[in-house]
Amino acid sequence: MQQPIGIFDSGIGGTSIWKEIQKLLPNENTIYLADSKNAPYGAKSKEEILELSIKNTELLLQKNCKLIVVACNTATTNAIDYLRANYKVPFIGIEPAIKPAALHTKTRKIGILATKGTLSSSLFHSTSKMFAEGITVLEQEGTGLVELIEAGEVNSKATKELLKRYIDPMLAEDIDCLVLGCTHYPYLIPVLRKLLSQRITIIDSGEAVARQTNAILIKNQLLAQEGSRANHMFFSNSNVDVLKSLVDDTDVEVDYLDF
Ligand code: DGL
Repeated sequence: MQQPIGIFDSGIGGTSIWKEIQKLLPNENTIYLADSKNAPYGAKSKEEILELSIKNTELLLQKNCKLIVVACNTATTNAIDYLRANYKVPFIGIEPAIKPAALHTKTRKIGILATKGTLSSSLFHSTSKMFAEGITVLEQEGTGLVELIEAGEVNSKATKELLKRYIDPMLAEDIDCLVLGCTHYPYLIPVLRKLLSQRITIIDSGEAVARQTNAILIKNQLLAQEGSRANHMFFSNSNVDVLKSLVDDTDVEVDYLDF
Protein backbone atom coordinates (compact mmCIF):
# COMPACT_ATOMS: atom_id res chain seq x y z
CA MET A 1 0.00 0.00 0.00
CA GLN A 2 1.54 3.28 -1.12
CA GLN A 3 0.05 5.48 1.63
CA PRO A 4 2.85 6.95 3.76
CA ILE A 5 3.98 5.99 7.25
CA GLY A 6 3.54 9.01 9.54
CA ILE A 7 6.20 9.78 12.11
CA PHE A 8 6.20 12.53 14.72
CA ASP A 9 8.46 13.79 17.48
CA SER A 10 8.72 16.90 19.60
CA GLY A 11 11.49 17.90 17.23
CA ILE A 12 14.37 16.48 15.24
CA GLY A 13 15.22 13.52 17.53
CA GLY A 14 12.79 11.13 15.87
CA THR A 15 14.87 11.31 12.70
CA SER A 16 17.09 8.73 14.46
CA ILE A 17 14.05 6.43 14.28
CA TRP A 18 13.20 7.47 10.72
CA LYS A 19 16.71 6.39 9.67
CA GLU A 20 16.19 2.90 11.11
CA ILE A 21 12.76 2.62 9.45
CA GLN A 22 14.11 3.74 6.11
CA LYS A 23 16.99 1.24 6.36
CA LEU A 24 14.67 -1.69 7.07
CA LEU A 25 11.76 -0.60 4.87
CA PRO A 26 13.27 1.16 1.85
CA ASN A 27 10.05 0.97 -0.20
CA GLU A 28 7.95 2.88 2.29
CA ASN A 29 6.90 6.51 1.78
CA THR A 30 7.19 8.58 4.95
CA ILE A 31 5.97 11.90 6.33
CA TYR A 32 7.81 13.27 9.36
CA LEU A 33 6.57 16.04 11.66
CA ALA A 34 9.11 17.85 13.84
CA ASP A 35 7.12 19.81 16.40
CA SER A 36 10.23 21.79 17.34
CA LYS A 37 8.19 24.88 18.15
CA ASN A 38 6.86 23.01 21.19
CA ALA A 39 10.07 21.19 22.21
CA PRO A 40 10.90 20.05 24.76
CA TYR A 41 7.84 17.94 25.55
CA GLY A 42 9.70 16.43 28.49
CA ALA A 43 9.07 19.41 30.75
CA LYS A 44 5.33 19.62 29.99
CA SER A 45 2.36 18.14 31.85
CA LYS A 46 0.73 14.89 30.72
CA GLU A 47 -2.30 16.89 29.49
CA GLU A 48 -0.13 19.18 27.35
CA ILE A 49 1.80 16.22 25.88
CA LEU A 50 -1.50 14.52 25.07
CA GLU A 51 -2.88 17.64 23.37
CA LEU A 52 0.25 18.01 21.21
CA SER A 53 0.23 14.30 20.34
CA ILE A 54 -3.40 14.56 19.19
CA LYS A 55 -2.57 17.61 17.07
CA ASN A 56 0.33 15.78 15.37
CA THR A 57 -1.73 12.62 14.86
CA GLU A 58 -4.61 14.50 13.24
CA LEU A 59 -2.28 16.27 10.83
CA LEU A 60 -0.68 12.98 9.81
CA LEU A 61 -4.12 11.43 9.30
CA GLN A 62 -5.12 14.40 7.13
CA LYS A 63 -2.05 13.56 5.07
CA ASN A 64 -3.44 10.05 4.61
CA CYS A 65 -0.94 8.09 6.72
CA LYS A 66 -1.63 4.37 7.08
CA LEU A 67 0.30 3.89 10.34
CA ILE A 68 1.79 6.32 12.86
CA VAL A 69 5.12 5.99 14.61
CA VAL A 70 5.26 8.05 17.79
CA ALA A 71 9.03 8.60 17.56
CA CYS A 72 9.23 10.19 20.98
CA ASN A 73 9.53 8.39 24.32
CA THR A 74 7.83 11.25 26.12
CA ALA A 75 4.78 11.25 23.83
CA THR A 76 4.61 7.45 23.82
CA THR A 77 4.72 7.03 27.57
CA ASN A 78 2.12 9.78 28.11
CA ALA A 79 -0.23 9.52 25.14
CA ILE A 80 -0.09 6.26 23.18
CA ASP A 81 -2.86 4.51 25.14
CA TYR A 82 -5.19 7.40 24.33
CA LEU A 83 -4.17 7.49 20.66
CA ARG A 84 -4.68 3.73 20.24
CA ALA A 85 -8.09 3.93 21.87
CA ASN A 86 -9.30 6.87 19.77
CA TYR A 87 -7.92 6.44 16.24
CA LYS A 88 -8.21 3.52 13.84
CA VAL A 89 -4.70 3.39 12.36
CA PRO A 90 -2.03 1.26 14.06
CA PHE A 91 0.40 3.15 16.33
CA ILE A 92 3.99 2.16 17.03
CA GLY A 93 5.56 3.70 20.11
CA ILE A 94 9.02 3.90 21.58
CA GLU A 95 9.90 3.22 25.19
CA PRO A 96 13.25 3.11 26.97
CA ALA A 97 14.94 -0.26 26.36
CA ILE A 98 14.91 -1.40 29.99
CA LYS A 99 14.30 -5.05 29.12
CA PRO A 100 17.34 -5.54 26.83
CA ALA A 101 19.51 -3.66 29.34
CA ALA A 102 18.25 -5.83 32.20
CA LEU A 103 19.08 -8.96 30.21
CA HIS A 104 22.54 -7.65 29.30
CA THR A 105 23.86 -6.21 32.57
CA LYS A 106 26.49 -8.11 34.54
CA THR A 107 26.89 -5.59 37.36
CA ARG A 108 23.07 -5.61 37.76
CA LYS A 109 23.14 -1.83 37.59
CA ILE A 110 21.86 0.10 34.63
CA GLY A 111 21.61 3.80 33.98
CA ILE A 112 18.82 5.52 32.10
CA LEU A 113 18.97 8.97 30.63
CA ALA A 114 15.53 10.29 29.62
CA THR A 115 13.27 13.29 29.94
CA LYS A 116 11.38 14.18 33.09
CA GLY A 117 8.11 13.45 31.23
CA THR A 118 9.22 9.90 30.44
CA LEU A 119 10.74 9.09 33.83
CA SER A 120 7.65 10.32 35.68
CA SER A 121 5.15 8.43 33.49
CA SER A 122 3.24 5.45 34.82
CA LEU A 123 4.03 3.44 31.66
CA PHE A 124 7.76 3.80 32.30
CA HIS A 125 7.30 2.78 35.95
CA SER A 126 5.33 -0.33 35.10
CA THR A 127 7.86 -1.38 32.41
CA SER A 128 10.73 -0.82 34.80
CA LYS A 129 9.02 -2.83 37.51
CA MET A 130 8.18 -5.67 35.17
CA PHE A 131 11.56 -6.08 33.47
CA ALA A 132 14.15 -4.86 35.95
CA GLU A 133 13.30 -6.80 39.06
CA GLY A 134 16.36 -7.17 41.27
CA ILE A 135 18.33 -4.71 39.13
CA THR A 136 19.27 -1.22 40.22
CA VAL A 137 18.00 1.33 37.70
CA LEU A 138 19.68 4.70 38.09
CA GLU A 139 17.42 7.33 36.55
CA GLN A 140 18.80 10.62 35.30
CA GLU A 141 16.74 13.41 33.76
CA GLY A 142 18.50 14.86 30.72
CA THR A 143 17.25 18.40 31.33
CA GLY A 144 18.65 20.80 28.70
CA LEU A 145 19.98 18.17 26.29
CA VAL A 146 17.00 18.27 23.89
CA GLU A 147 17.31 22.07 23.63
CA LEU A 148 21.04 21.80 22.80
CA ILE A 149 20.43 19.13 20.15
CA GLU A 150 17.57 21.15 18.64
CA ALA A 151 20.00 24.08 18.39
CA GLY A 152 22.45 21.89 16.46
CA GLU A 153 24.91 21.86 19.36
CA VAL A 154 25.61 18.15 19.45
CA ASN A 155 29.36 18.66 19.80
CA SER A 156 29.50 21.87 21.79
CA LYS A 157 31.38 22.36 25.03
CA ALA A 158 28.08 23.00 26.85
CA THR A 159 26.69 19.64 25.64
CA LYS A 160 29.82 17.75 26.66
CA GLU A 161 29.86 19.35 30.10
CA LEU A 162 26.18 18.70 30.73
CA LEU A 163 26.46 15.08 29.61
CA LYS A 164 29.47 14.54 31.86
CA ARG A 165 27.55 15.99 34.79
CA TYR A 166 24.70 13.55 34.15
CA ILE A 167 26.82 10.48 33.44
CA ASP A 168 29.50 10.70 36.15
CA PRO A 169 27.23 9.82 39.11
CA MET A 170 25.98 6.73 37.27
CA LEU A 171 29.54 5.66 36.46
CA ALA A 172 30.45 6.04 40.12
CA GLU A 173 27.69 3.50 40.87
CA ASP A 174 29.25 0.97 38.46
CA ILE A 175 26.60 0.77 35.74
CA ASP A 176 27.55 -1.33 32.71
CA CYS A 177 24.60 -0.38 30.48
CA LEU A 178 23.33 3.05 29.62
CA VAL A 179 19.81 3.23 28.18
CA LEU A 180 19.06 6.22 25.96
CA GLY A 181 15.40 6.93 26.69
CA CYS A 182 14.90 9.84 24.31
CA THR A 183 15.04 9.75 20.52
CA HIS A 184 17.21 12.88 20.44
CA TYR A 185 20.01 11.18 22.39
CA PRO A 186 21.37 8.74 19.75
CA TYR A 187 22.92 11.85 18.16
CA LEU A 188 25.01 12.14 21.33
CA ILE A 189 26.53 8.66 21.00
CA PRO A 190 29.87 9.87 19.53
CA VAL A 191 30.29 12.28 22.48
CA LEU A 192 29.09 9.67 24.97
CA ARG A 193 31.52 7.08 23.65
CA LYS A 194 34.38 9.39 24.59
CA LEU A 195 33.02 9.76 28.13
CA LEU A 196 32.31 6.07 28.69
CA SER A 197 34.74 3.16 28.85
CA GLN A 198 34.26 0.34 26.31
CA ARG A 199 32.88 -1.79 29.16
CA ILE A 200 29.67 0.23 29.07
CA THR A 201 27.06 -0.71 26.51
CA ILE A 202 24.83 2.03 25.12
CA ILE A 203 21.33 0.79 24.32
CA ASP A 204 18.63 2.58 22.38
CA SER A 205 15.36 1.39 20.88
CA GLY A 206 15.59 2.62 17.27
CA GLU A 207 16.15 -0.72 15.56
CA ALA A 208 13.47 -2.42 17.64
CA VAL A 209 10.95 0.26 16.60
CA ALA A 210 11.76 -0.34 12.92
CA ARG A 211 11.34 -4.13 13.36
CA GLN A 212 8.01 -3.61 15.12
CA THR A 213 6.85 -1.23 12.36
CA ASN A 214 7.68 -3.92 9.79
CA ALA A 215 5.81 -6.58 11.79
CA ILE A 216 2.68 -4.45 12.15
CA LEU A 217 2.68 -3.47 8.47
CA ILE A 218 2.84 -7.16 7.54
CA LYS A 219 0.15 -8.12 10.04
CA ASN A 220 -2.23 -5.45 8.68
CA GLN A 221 -1.29 -6.07 5.02
CA LEU A 222 -0.08 -2.49 4.70
CA LEU A 223 3.40 -3.02 3.25
CA ALA A 224 4.37 -0.93 0.22
CA GLN A 225 5.07 -2.74 -3.02
CA GLU A 226 8.56 -4.15 -3.54
CA GLY A 227 10.68 -2.01 -5.80
CA SER A 228 8.63 1.16 -5.45
CA ARG A 229 10.65 4.34 -5.16
CA ALA A 230 10.02 5.88 -1.78
CA ASN A 231 9.21 9.52 -1.20
CA HIS A 232 10.10 11.26 2.08
CA MET A 233 8.63 14.53 3.31
CA PHE A 234 9.79 16.34 6.42
CA PHE A 235 7.93 19.25 8.02
CA SER A 236 9.14 21.45 10.85
CA ASN A 237 7.21 24.27 12.50
CA SER A 238 10.51 25.97 13.47
CA ASN A 239 13.92 26.49 11.91
CA VAL A 240 14.39 23.80 9.23
CA ASP A 241 18.19 24.02 8.97
CA VAL A 242 19.15 21.54 11.70
CA LEU A 243 16.51 19.11 10.45
CA LYS A 244 17.90 19.43 6.94
CA SER A 245 21.42 18.72 8.14
CA LEU A 246 20.29 15.47 9.82
CA VAL A 247 18.40 14.02 6.87
CA ASP A 248 20.61 15.33 4.13
CA ASP A 249 19.66 13.15 1.19
CA THR A 250 18.64 13.95 -2.36
CA ASP A 251 15.41 11.99 -2.03
CA VAL A 252 13.97 13.96 0.84
CA GLU A 253 12.00 17.17 0.95
CA VAL A 254 12.25 19.40 4.04
CA ASP A 255 9.78 22.25 4.45
CA TYR A 256 8.48 24.70 6.99
CA LEU A 257 4.85 24.12 7.97
CA ASP A 258 2.87 26.07 10.53
CA PHE A 259 1.17 23.41 12.66
N1 DGL B 1 12.59 12.96 21.43
C1 DGL B 1 11.79 13.14 22.61
C2 DGL B 1 11.78 11.84 23.42
O1 DGL B 1 12.09 10.79 22.88
C3 DGL B 1 12.26 14.35 23.32
C4 DGL B 1 11.29 14.81 24.32
C5 DGL B 1 11.29 16.27 24.59
O2 DGL B 1 10.96 17.03 23.69
O3 DGL B 1 11.57 16.62 25.74
O4 DGL B 1 11.45 11.83 24.57
